[in-house]
Formats: sequence, C-alpha cells, structure tokens
Amino acid sequence: MKKVTKAVIPAAGLGTRVLPATKAIPKEMLPIVDKPTLQYIVEEVIESGIKEILIIIGRNKTSIEDHFDRSIELEKTLAEKGKSDLLGLVEDISNLVDIHYVRQKEPKGLGHAIYCARTFVRDEPFAVLLGDDIVKSEPPCLRQLVDIYNEKHGSVVGVQEVPDEDVNKYGIVKYIDGSNGTYRISDLIEKPELKDAPSNMAIMGRYVITPAIFDILGRTKPGKGGEIQLTDALNELARKEDIFAHIFKGKRFDAGDKMGYLKATIEFALEKEDLGPELRKYIKELQKKF
Ligand code: G1P
Repeated sequence: MKKVTKAVIPAAGLGTRVLPATKAIPKEMLPIVDKPTLQYIVEEVIESGIKEILIIIGRNKTSIEDHFDRSIELEKTLAEKGKSDLLGLVEDISNLVDIHYVRQKEPKGLGHAIYCARTFVRDEPFAVLLGDDIVKSEPPCLRQLVDIYNEKHGSVVGVQEVPDEDVNKYGIVKYIDGSNGTYRISDLIEKPELKDAPSNMAIMGRYVITPAIFDILGRTKPGKGGEIQLTDALNELARKEDIFAHIFKGKRFDAGDKMGYLKATIEFALEKEDLGPELRKYIKELQKKF
C-alpha cells in the first residue's frame, strides 16, 4: 500500500469574508498572533510526517512564496545586529519543508483547485488541508487521519459535530457503520439545508484522498454556489471505494470568519509564555466593564 507523502493546500480563495483586510494581502497570510495562518497549516503537515507540499495559489499570492522562501537581506541584517533568536525564527520558516506552487487560473471552486494538483500527486494517496481551518490538537489533526488511512486503506475526511444552525455551512456526511469515532460513509452533501442533512457531522477542512478522485474531478459539474465542489466528487468516489469519516480530537477554529479568527488569536496568545499572563490579566480587567 502506498504511503501518504504529499499534502495539497488550496490557498487561492478571494477571502471575501474578511474584506477589506484581504484586498491586497492573501487571507492565508493574515497572522494569528505572530504567524500567518498558512504557517500553522504547513507546520501541521510537517508534524504529521509529510514532507512534500503543494500550495495552490491564485492571483496576488506572491507574498506566500516570499514567506516560505529565504530572505537573505533580512537574515543578513539580523545577523549583523546579533539578533540570533529572530534570525532562527526567520531561517526556520524557509528550512521547514520543500514547497511547490501551482496557480489556479480561475476561481472555479475547491474541487477545481484540487484538480490542479493532479500532476504533483500522480497515483498516490494525498492529504488536503484547507487554510481556513486551524486545528489545535495533539497528535496533529492530519496525523490522526493518516493513521486511519493506514488502517482502513480508504479515503478519510475529518469531521466534527456542529449545531443545527451551522449545518448549511459545511459538507455533511451520512454514516453506514463503524465505531470509536471512525465510520464508513455513503454520502457527502455540500452545505445541505438542515431538513435535508443526514447528520450533524461536518467536514472540517482535513482529508486524505485516494488518487481515483482526479478522474472524477475532471468531469464534476459545478454544484453548490456554481463551483466545482470537492464534496460532490468525494460523493461519487464513495460509489466506487470505501470512504471513511473520522471524528478527530482537537479544537478547530474557522480562521476565515471574523469571530473564529478572533477566538483563535485570543486562545493562541493566551498560550504564549511572553503574552499569556498579561493578556489574562487584561481580559479579567475588561470583564469588570461588561
Ligand atoms: C469548504 C468545503 C466544505 C467544508 C468546509 C470546511 O467549504 O467545501 O465541505 O465543510 O470547507 O471549512 P468553504 O468553507 O470553503 O465554503
């Protein structure tokens, strides 16, 4: 059985939910405390044991390439000033991993973005991580899904339960059987109305997918929102191969949404040694005014 050695990160979205911040800056470059959201995702990939990454970029995304490249001038200046701690941080980013890029020429949806990865992926199982979903967990969310893939030998989508009012914001899965958080699924439906939803189990931006998806994506018609949907292609894949949903452990933030972004910023800052204690005090003071 082939191992999962490649990850695909789509980062070609327009970021309309956080305009005007994303007018000139890709949403994936917005920082949570001091790191761009995309770097959290790249680190999750590396911590999950995967070394090859393809980022699907759109227009206006050169800052992404710059961020993961070396910055010779900055490194030189920091070295001259003896700022070795900062130098370490900057060098670490470019040493993290080998990153490849491909451009999605038109924003035709997530399914189309993933289809752009077919030459990179070839005939291997691969991981997909969506940049809006930041997951705080140990072991990393993707590692949990790769472990299930290695056990079941089929595509795996990471899910968590959402309240009724949020069902229409996600891809939703229908179970057939299973236990202990891993279930074989028969259907995947993109953003159904609550009345049509077969469960409250929502796909949370983490997947391990078999390469059979590419044939399907090549002929998937636009679905919800007029976009080519990965969920629709996976639904067709479920007619051909076993697909599993795994309820991963960890806290997931929707960093593409203003409230989710704020929550992530606060929680990540509270955990930092240099910021946490003072921020905790500040929040307590603020609370007195509520
Ligand atoms: C995408 C997927 C959806 C998934 C969601 C997770 O939707 O199409 O199935 O549940 O990400 O965040 P988007 O939020 O990009 O519209």
